[in-house]
Amino acid sequence: MTGGTAAGHVLAARILGEPHPAADLFDPNRFDARSVLEVAQDNLTVAKYLVGDHVAALWRSEKLDDLQPGDAQVVRVGGELVAAHRDEAGKLHTVGAHCTHLGCLVSFNDAEKTWDCPCHGSRFGVDGTVVQGPAVRPLRRGPA
Ligand code: FES
Repeated sequence: MTGGTAAGHVLAARILGEPHPAADLFDPNRFDARSVLEVAQDNLTVAKYLVGDHVAALWRSEKLDDLQPGDAQVVRVGGELVAAHRDEAGKLHTVGAHCTHLGCLVSFNDAEKTWDCPCHGSRFGVDGTVVQGPAVRPLRRGPA
């Protein structure tokens, strides 16, 4: 919405032949070799998490009972990766560990008490609800 409004202001200024301070932000020629390199680096980072976390998950433990109050961990349960969090009251919350955007593995954000995806920044509550996109679907409810 704000992008559309800003674009309208820029277009109006352009039609009137006036300069606009945000015109460079909407210039279709704003991409250069450096920005292409940044996009490539971002995609390499996503690939690193997508592949690396899945490989590392092969050695995850299966011990949900070992989680202490306040702890959270991605564990393997019956061959599935589960994001498990035991709240301070001792209640265990489990959801699928695969982000519903493109499948990276989530990791626990202890400060916010959310499951965060390292690939594109989606965040989920301990019950799997979407807190922040780009994911629009909640994490799958896990075994508990
Ligand atoms: S895979 Fe894109 S936000 Fe998780």
